[in-house]
Amino acid sequence: MTARFHNPVDTRFGWGCLQALATLTEGQSVALVTFPEARELGLVDRIQALLGDRLVYVIEDVQPNPDVAQLRDTYERFWQQAGDCQVVVAVGGGSAIDTAKALIVGTESGDFDELLALLAAGKPFVPARHKQLIAAPTTAGTGSEVTPWATIWDSASLKKYSLHLDCTWPKVAIIDPQLMLTVPAGVTVSTGLDALSHALESIWNINANPISDTFAISAIEDILECLPRLRRDLGNQELRSRMALAALKAGLAFSNTKTALAHSISYEMTLHHGLPHGIACSFTLPLVLGLAWGHDAARDRTLQRIFGTDLHQAQAQLRDFLHSLDVKTEFADYGVNASEAEAMIRFALQGARGKNFIGAQAA
Ligand SMILES: NC(=O)c1ccc[n+]([C@@H]2O[C@H](COP(=O)([O-])OP(=O)(O)OC[C@H]3O[C@@H](n4cnc5c(N)ncnc54)[C@H](O)[C@@H]3O)[C@@H](O)[C@H]2O)c1
Repeated sequence: MTARFHNPVDTRFGWGCLQALATLTEGQSVALVTFPEARELGLVDRIQALLGDRLVYVIEDVQPNPDVAQLRDTYERFWQQAGDCQVVVAVGGGSAIDTAKALIVGTESGDFDELLALLAAGKPFVPARHKQLIAAPTTAGTGSEVTPWATIWDSASLKKYSLHLDCTWPKVAIIDPQLMLTVPAGVTVSTGLDALSHALESIWNINANPISDTFAISAIEDILECLPRLRRDLGNQELRSRMALAALKAGLAFSNTKTALAHSISYEMTLHHGLPHGIACSFTLPLVLGLAWGHDAARDRTLQRIFGTDLHQAQAQLRDFLHSLDVKTEFADYGVNASEAEAMIRFALQGARGKNFIGAQAA
């Protein structure tokens, strides 16, 4: 089998590397998309100082899980008021980066509903215009800075859309662990588990290959070791750096494989039960590990490099790890009974991500 790995993002990593924004945007006008706490944390002023009068527009009211209800207005104001800017810089968690990915895709009319109709059609399209994206994550989780995908939610209609175009790959990713020092414990855990889920989902995936496996195994080892320690010591710079790198490696792994069953289930749990993304995509990992085991010798070997050869012990290790972070691992813990859970798994296996799961055909 010939493996191919492709990721076009110019990726920078290191403590303080946000500084590179100044040179990366030289001679260009910039719009900033960031999270609500960023101003109070001094981040907006810091970016303003780095960019000077190149910074022409700021969006700082990005809410968790970009939803069409808010995005419509943000999108239309952005194209009316900052349509001339050349670069969009997203500094925030996955919500800010995914919002920015939606903003950079310009429709002919400037109307958001035109974009939504294209997403609803689910077919590839070439946008009328687009802008360049620089993504600087402030959480160690989504990997959105090195993937082309954006998840757009429509909670009122209980739907989600996946945006994915050539132009939604960020041009540059700036992973500066210093930006993550202020992430509270709960978000540190849920985003870290999102990264763990990306790495595992890239392994039990029909698109996996030895290159994506290399990133995934390394990410999983780091997360299993660092996340519980970081939760107890949020100001630890070394642990913040290792989790930032782990989330990046997990992002690189699934940038080439996409996610699988645990994510497919998570969309249902978020839309119908309001579970935060990182918990929704990780509480089923011990269960999905059991469903993945025994379908493909190469996949088993990769999983066994991390968890050993005994499935029950492997599931117990993952369960204990999640419990140690106060994450419950059973559907019943989230108000979903056994028959509802079974129906949800069956439905999730039919979804686009569910079909990437190595056990999907046998199920
Ligand atoms: N595009 C992808 O490949 C991909 C992958 C996974 C998840 N996602 C999406 O990402 C979103 C979730 O992103 P997330 O988990 O990073 O959370 P988030 O961006 O929603 O942030 C969580 C909370 O933490 C706050 N926050 C962020 N950075 C902070 C900091 N440095 N200090 C203090 N507070 C901070 C935010 O304001 C928010 O309240 C979801 O919409 C999910 O669908 C996208």
